[in-house]
Amino acid sequence: MDELIEEAARIILGSKLTLALTGAGISVESGIPDFRSRGGLWDRFDPEEYGTIYAFRKDPEKVWKMLKEMEDTLDRARPNEAHVGLAELESMGLLQCVSTQNVDNLHQEAGSRDVIEYHGNSRSLTCLWCNRKHDYKEKKGEYPPRCTCGKILKPDVIFFGETIPFEAMERSSQLASTCQALLIVGTSALVSPFNILPRQAKQAGAKIIEINLERTVLTDHITDIFLQGKASEKVSQVVSAVKELRGL
Ligand code: APR
Repeated sequence: MDELIEEAARIILGSKLTLALTGAGISVESGIPDFRSRGGLWDRFDPEEYGTIYAFRKDPEKVWKMLKEMEDTLDRARPNEAHVGLAELESMGLLQCVSTQNVDNLHQEAGSRDVIEYHGNSRSLTCLWCNRKHDYKEKKGEYPPRCTCGKILKPDVIFFGETIPFEAMERSSQLASTCQALLIVGTSALVSPFNILPRQAKQAGAKIIEINLERTVLTDHITDIFLQGKASEKVSQVVSAVKELRGL
C-alpha cells in the first residue's frame, strides 16, 4: 500500500467527524470540464460577461448561450469513481457530509445522502422578476426558458455577485470548524467564501487531505497530505485502503 494513501486512510479511520469539500475537478472525469484549467468554462466564456448576476440581469439571452452548453454537458454526465467512493465512505459511517461547489447533482446520483450545495443547483429555475420557481424538467427543451410571466428564468446556481444560500454557508462552516479530518477534492480553492472552509478546519486542528491533479494555494500551507493525481484514482485508493485496514 502506498504510504501517503495509508496515512490518509488512517486519518479517516481515526476521525470522529470527517467532511469532504469538492469542486469542479471531481466531475472532470464525468465529462464536465472545470472552470480554470486550460479549455475550462472561464477559458471560453469571460466570467465578467457570463458569470455575474449583473451580466445575467443585463442580457439573460446571451448568458443562456453558456448555460445551454452547460446544461447539455450536465445531462450527459454520470458519477465517476470519486463520487462513488465518497458515497461509500458515507455509507461506512466514515464521512459525515459533502459540501460541494458543483451544481451537477453527481454526488447525490452516486448515493451520497448528506450533500450541501454551496453554489446552488441546476435542478430548478427562478424568475428574478416574479420570484416563481420552476422545475428544470418542466422547462427542458425550452431555450431560453421563460416564466409564465414571460421573463427569462435563471437557474438556481449561484452567480458571482449573489449571496451563498444561508443554510449551506452556516452548516459548512459549522462542520469545518468541528471536523477532525477534511478531505478536499478537485478545487482550485480560489473562490470565496468556500475557500475559507479549509482554513477554518485547519485552525480547529483538523487533518487536511487534498486530492488534485496539481498543487493549489492550499497545498503548501494548509494541506497535511497531498495526493496528486486524478480524483477517481486517488479517492478509490483511499477507500480501498480504508477497507483493507478495517479488514473488510
Ligand atoms: N482530478 C483531480 N483534480 C482535478 C481533475 C481531476 N481529474 N481535473 C481538474 N482538477 C483540479 C484542477 O487542477 C483545479 O485545481 O480541479 C480544480 C478545478 O478548479 P476550478 O476550475 O477553479 O473549479 P472550482 O475550484 O470548483 O471553482 C470554484 O468557481 O466560477 C466558479 O462557481 C464556480 O463553483 C465554481 C467555483
